[in-house]
Amino acid sequence: MAPARSAAAPRWPSGTWPTCWLLPASVRQARAALVAGGRSLSRDRLADRMREDGYRVSNARVGLLLRLLTSEDVAGPVDVSARRPDDAEYAACQRRGGVGDPETCRSWRQFSSGLAVRWQAARVHEMRSDPITLRLPSPLFELRDDRLERAQVRLLIKRDDLIHPEIPGNKWRKLSYNLSAATNAGHDTLLTFGGAYSNHLRATAAAGYYFGFRTIGVVRGEEHLPLNPSLEYATRRGMRLTYLDRTTYREKQSLTVIEALRREWGRFYLLPEGGSNSLALKGCAEIPEEIDATFDVICCAVGTGGTLAGIAAGLREGQRAIGFSALKGGDFLADDVARLQSEAGLASANWRIECAYHFGGFAKTTPQLQTFIDTFAERHGIVLDRVYVAKMMFGIFDMIQTGAFPAGATMVAVITG
Ligand SMILES: Cc1ncc(COP(=O)(O)O)c(C=O)c1O
Repeated sequence: MAPARSAAAPRWPSGTWPTCWLLPASVRQARAALVAGGRSLSRDRLADRMREDGYRVSNARVGLLLRLLTSEDVAGPVDVSARRPDDAEYAACQRRGGVGDPETCRSWRQFSSGLAVRWQAARVHEMRSDPITLRLPSPLFELRDDRLERAQVRLLIKRDDLIHPEIPGNKWRKLSYNLSAATNAGHDTLLTFGGAYSNHLRATAAAGYYFGFRTIGVVRGEEHLPLNPSLEYATRRGMRLTYLDRTTYREKQSLTVIEALRREWGRFYLLPEGGSNSLALKGCAEIPEEIDATFDVICCAVGTGGTLAGIAAGLREGQRAIGFSALKGGDFLADDVARLQSEAGLASANWRIECAYHFGGFAKTTPQLQTFIDTFAERHGIVLDRVYVAKMMFGIFDMIQTGAFPAGATMVAVITG
């Protein structure tokens, strides 16, 4: 649900709730049935059809839904209705009693102004046409550092974090093939899961924005308003949020929960929490394939294990992958990585997980880790993400200094975000 705010003062949105979100799946279904039966669209036909489908709707409500449907359809590339209503028009609409702030409206009922609706519809078009530039292959460079020289080890840095500011690193790698699969299967909506601070939710919202998908984020726990910056960003990128209590959230992969979500949101392409599925592995397998230097070991951070599983699957003979767990007690992750690989038909025995560099647990930090991050930034101009990447980098340097890698070895550290 959109956060409720007062609609008293005119306040034009920086982001927006596209018209499409105001249309329940039932009305689209009814329209599709009419079109399939060769019947033209009218309020009464639509209302009859929805009632036949078991929805209790008044003709007045169907009339408004029809206006939303048609305004969505007319939003074309040169639609003049993209003009934003000015404050006077907005106030007049409000006086007529039905138009709320398009950003914060909770229901279709508030959108009774044709102008606001057309503007919203035009925004839908705009959302689908923003160009995106991805930096691929991501940059690779060799890190110069006296600690490496002393150990006679080379360390190459794969800057996947530079792929795109909003869909960086493993987020892009995991989404890329999924976005193609969703398009090929005719989906226009992505649904995924995450905690309230999930980077995966943010990236999915951004991917939806740039690639023309509606996005639904199913958030663990209760709604807290105002939204935190992550969720606020996701909604600005058009993501619709819904919440599952923690018990139900644990069952999120069950048929019952998925079916309930389908009833509520209609047809969608399902991305798992963290985005780790077989297609995500395929995307991550491209990381080592992109590296045109010879190397022995490649390292990445581990949360769900999808990135490590994919990277290991993309290695050549003789190369190895090491994943650094960002979680305390991450030994169970080895089973997850093995399962993900076998589900994708990409099983390999060339990886392992290092569990000693969790710094107290997920998202926890210590003064020692913070000093490492600061020093690394000073020396190399890269600010490491403290939840995942910094722990991996600390682990790599620690292992190098304690002689875990032979002189002459070449390592790659993937900056996953
Ligand atoms: C920057 C960064 N690196 C690494 C990971 C861990 O990836 P995975 O969940 O595939 O193990 C994440 C989590 O998504 C992340 O945000």
